[in-house]
Amino acid sequence: MRFVISLFSTLLFSIITAAQQKPLSLIPYPVEVKQQEGVFLLKNTITVSTILPQQDWKPLFSYFKDEMKKLYSITVTEAAKEKQADISFQMRRMPTSGKPAYELEVNKNGVIITSNFSEPAFHAMQTFFQLIPVDKGSKKEIPFVKIFDYARFNYRGMHLDVGRHFFPVDFIKKYIDYLACHKFNTFHWHLTEDQGWRIEIKKYPKLTSVGAWRNGTIIGRYPGTGNDNIKYGGFYTQTQIKEIVKYASDRYITVIPEIEMPGHSSAAIAAYPELSCFPDKSTEYPKQCAWSGPTEGKQVQQTWGVFDDVFCAGKENTFTFLEDVMDEVLALFPSKYIHVGGDESPKAHWKLCPACQQRIKELGLKDEHELQSYFIQRMEKYLNKKGRTLIGWDEILEGGLAPNAVVMSWRGEKGGIDAAKQNHDVIMSPGNPVYFDHTQSENEDSVTIGGFNPIEKVYAYEPVPKELNDEQAKHVLGAQANMWTEYMKNTNKVEYMLFPRIAALSEVLWSQKEKKNWGDFEKRLMTQFKRYDLWKMNYSKAYFELKATVSPTQNYTGLLWKLESKTKADDILIYKWVKNGTSDGQIVSNKGQCERMINSSGLYYGSLQEKTEVKSLLKQEFFFNKATGKKITLANEAAKNYPGDGAFTLVNGVQNEKGFARTKEFLGFNGTDCEAVIDLGSSQSISSVIIHALTRPTSWIWQPRSAEVFGSVNGITFTSLGTTNDFIQSKSPTGNGLMSIVFNAATVRYVKVLVKNHGTIAEGNAGAGNKAWLFVDEMEVNAPNP
Ligand code: ACM
Ligand code: ZN
Repeated sequence: MRFVISLFSTLLFSIITAAQQKPLSLIPYPVEVKQQEGVFLLKNTITVSTILPQQDWKPLFSYFKDEMKKLYSITVTEAAKEKQADISFQMRRMPTSGKPAYELEVNKNGVIITSNFSEPAFHAMQTFFQLIPVDKGSKKEIPFVKIFDYARFNYRGMHLDVGRHFFPVDFIKKYIDYLACHKFNTFHWHLTEDQGWRIEIKKYPKLTSVGAWRNGTIIGRYPGTGNDNIKYGGFYTQTQIKEIVKYASDRYITVIPEIEMPGHSSAAIAAYPELSCFPDKSTEYPKQCAWSGPTEGKQVQQTWGVFDDVFCAGKENTFTFLEDVMDEVLALFPSKYIHVGGDESPKAHWKLCPACQQRIKELGLKDEHELQSYFIQRMEKYLNKKGRTLIGWDEILEGGLAPNAVVMSWRGEKGGIDAAKQNHDVIMSPGNPVYFDHTQSENEDSVTIGGFNPIEKVYAYEPVPKELNDEQAKHVLGAQANMWTEYMKNTNKVEYMLFPRIAALSEVLWSQKEKKNWGDFEKRLMTQFKRYDLWKMNYSKAYFELKATVSPTQNYTGLLWKLESKTKADDILIYKWVKNGTSDGQIVSNKGQCERMINSSGLYYGSLQEKTEVKSLLKQEFFFNKATGKKITLANEAAKNYPGDGAFTLVNGVQNEKGFARTKEFLGFNGTDCEAVIDLGSSQSISSVIIHALTRPTSWIWQPRSAEVFGSVNGITFTSLGTTNDFIQSKSPTGNGLMSIVFNAATVRYVKVLVKNHGTIAEGNAGAGNKAWLFVDEMEVNAPNP
């Protein structure tokens, strides 16, 4: 019996060994990984020993013990003797010129984690967690391996806006845990906004008794479909903040507070109107937004955007206030860096304010940009005096950069490039691709602020711009993703927007540039998803989304509908389609893509299945008419930003249902008309044309001024068939609508459709004086009713 068991376990050992030779699913991927044959079995109770300094070890051990219990049901105790420990934490110099680094070795005796500081020991713990199999019920066997690792960038940041929406202390801690397990080291906490002041300041209690509360919030995407009329708010007490800063520090995360100035300060002004250039002027809000409660006096904002009422730069009391606030902030946050915002601060009030104008005159400043520069420089002096360094958004470049400021580049990379060239440190945080408030799914299932930053785009991001030479590149401290929460009302949504993109960014920031490999990351991501399941995170499954393309057939006899999945090799892609409520067959493919013909109207489904689990489901309705799938040409092309799939977009049988979220469903013309000629393939009797277009004046998109249809038998001489100026808007809030032109039946082969642009946008509208956009979706050509 003994013999049998021993033979069996040897057999098992070699099978497991082979399986364990699969590449390790580590994210972010370490600098060096050397796998060896064999595994070490973690028992239900394991012991650790350490030579790390006791004051560091206490929180490290407590964290490690708690995580091991929570995630893997393993009890960790301290070993009585170092030699007996399953995991031992050692210290020694690393060959990294003083940069924090660790080594992690798993062999038959257990695990040895060696580092030059306590911080990398914490990061080694994260790597260790990822060596433990995630599959439920599987043995806790970790592979023999030798890992050597350190971070590429010193600044690895995630931001969270708690002004637009407020999140409780427990979630902030969770968020910090999320950063920790992805080896981030900075949490940028955006604490003050137009819609709420969130940090207790004892000297100015009204900041939170008044400024932390708004009387309502707009509903839906800006400008909203109304106001919820619900009082909303919250703030963090200084005790809670200390607790959070300590919690973060135990996880080697620095919390950088942001106190916004001079803009985005409506909430502070609501509490202390004297901070405004015009204390007696009531708060203004966009006319098209619904308001809740009193409109007199200074109010906390209830909608999103940029507001003119900012801190006065002329009056001394503004600076007294901000210095007092900073005194309390600095006492709470030991961070070297303090963020003062500086973005999106309109100069309209400063232009009219006697105190601001007096300041400009006295100091001989050129304009209000230089006044903002004075504002920031004055705050910088104050912070520098206290041993801190100021960070500001890239607007702080305008009017001259404060001498020691760090620039956070968000309006693309330009601010970061300019600042680095001026020998300033920079943190890269460009909207494209690291604004995590942008959608990661092409088929948005909830409102976002717009923009499309899918995980592969985040993964491809390189924080050091090509424009910088080696010396200048040293000023790039790292990068950060931003989480603005206008459209994240609850913690579930924050997680949904964060995961799994944070995994991609962690690799951008931590892993060596040469090691980055999307194909490899994709494979490891599959295990990361399992970890997210284990850790009970709410993550987006947009990665599995099917990419659909519609194209004409060779003879213009129908449509080709192609579905592709990102992962190619192993996926079984199953197309199922349903037409008019009944099943219409299916195709199974393991090539990661599949294509079929569509010849008539109907609702079709495509799905990506792994065994029986549906990973992704795509629904598409096709609408057929005489023009669908036919050859079409444009007199002038659509604008570069909105090219759709070229002219074919207008006859691809797909009618845009989602406003402008799916930009490829329509063509955009900036100031120009849309003129198309459709070849029906043969002469046919037609009697109406319907043009689908969009209207959304707040985004400069205007309904067509008019539409006209022409017919021809030879494609050369065209006769007008009918015209209209009427645009019938659909009831949905997406701005869809149509223009219908009905005429006496005519027999033609070629149909020319001329859709006229609205022209210049009139005064009183968004974008007044600019060329309007014309967004055209689909063109239908119909036969006379029989
Ligand atoms: C910003 O997104 N306004 C920095
Ligand atoms: Zn002023």
